Amino acid sequence: MTTWLVTGGAGYIGAHVVHALTASGRRAVVFDDFSSGLASRIPVGTPVVRGSVLDQEVLTAALTEFGIDGVVHLAAKKAVAESVEHPLYYFRENVGGMLSLLDAMRETGVGRLVYSSSAAVYGEVDENPISELSDLRPQSPYGETKVIGEWMARDSGVAWGLSWAALRYFNVAGAGSDDLGDNSIANLIPMVFSAMDRGQRFRVFGDDYPTPDGSCIRDYVHVVDLAEAHVAAADLCERGTAQGAYNVGRGVGSSVLEVLAVVESVTGVNLDAEVVGRRLGDPPASFAATARIEQEFGWRASRDLPAMVSSAWSAWQAHRA
Ligand code: WQD
Repeated sequence: MTTWLVTGGAGYIGAHVVHALTASGRRAVVFDDFSSGLASRIPVGTPVVRGSVLDQEVLTAALTEFGIDGVVHLAAKKAVAESVEHPLYYFRENVGGMLSLLDAMRETGVGRLVYSSSAAVYGEVDENPISELSDLRPQSPYGETKVIGEWMARDSGVAWGLSWAALRYFNVAGAGSDDLGDNSIANLIPMVFSAMDRGQRFRVFGDDYPTPDGSCIRDYVHVVDLAEAHVAAADLCERGTAQGAYNVGRGVGSSVLEVLAVVESVTGVNLDAEVVGRRLGDPPASFAATARIEQEFGWRASRDLPAMVSSAWSAWQAHRA
């Protein structure tokens, strides 16, 4: 049995990864500073280290104490607009965190890393689906920190044999159970629920894009599928063959208006959404080419948009109760 440290393991995505690693027969240890994570998301019996990824000493101690075989690194800041306002904070947290983690891993001989990257590394794209070979032109400090993190993993692979996989998440949604939902109200689906709760009309950012219904297209992927992709990546790292970046999406584009229609059918609520102006920096369409992850991981998303919306809705109601 191998043991994996999950930084950010008390977060929305991290907790799903912890559950999936445990279900795969591995031991998971959570490393989290609880700045946004919740202890209630962590399965009973899972060891927890409270600490910051900027603290190399605490990381080194955790890697040694628990006999860690590999790390899934999710602990980072992820608000795009905030990163534009406070770029140095993002570089300190995300690049600094990756630096102390890699140093601690090298020092203790832990040679496997699954790194949480993002479709934000692509930035403005010329064509869809987006393949891993596309140019990286991040449009925000957040996206830049994710590119730098990938480079740090890649260069560590060359220099000291780190076995690594960077997972470029597209738009993550849904919940594996009611206690694991995304309560941050930062992305489309939680924002729709939040508007419903407040009795406000949901605002669609633009319906004049060059897409079939005029609203933006994204690739929504279920968080449980995403968590299973981390397990597949851990498998590959354990076999020593992982080295590279992989898109994690369904390869299916859904428009904002399509997502709203699914929300209406799941909740039975008529949203009466209003269309407002475009949001600065929103690409008209973004969806993943999935051939690489399918071929190399044998992974493919199996859960659809109604499954994402209904599980997210159920978790949202449980959280509100
Ligand atoms: C989705 C669609 C909006 C809110 C961001 C980051 C990305 C990743 C995921 C990472 C867009 C539309 C939204 C609203 C709307 N983050 N929308 N009204 O922007 O695709 O991706 O989150 O860690 O890096 O950039 O996701 O959920 O904000 O928006 O019409 O009130 O919903 O315009 O088309 P996005 P999102």
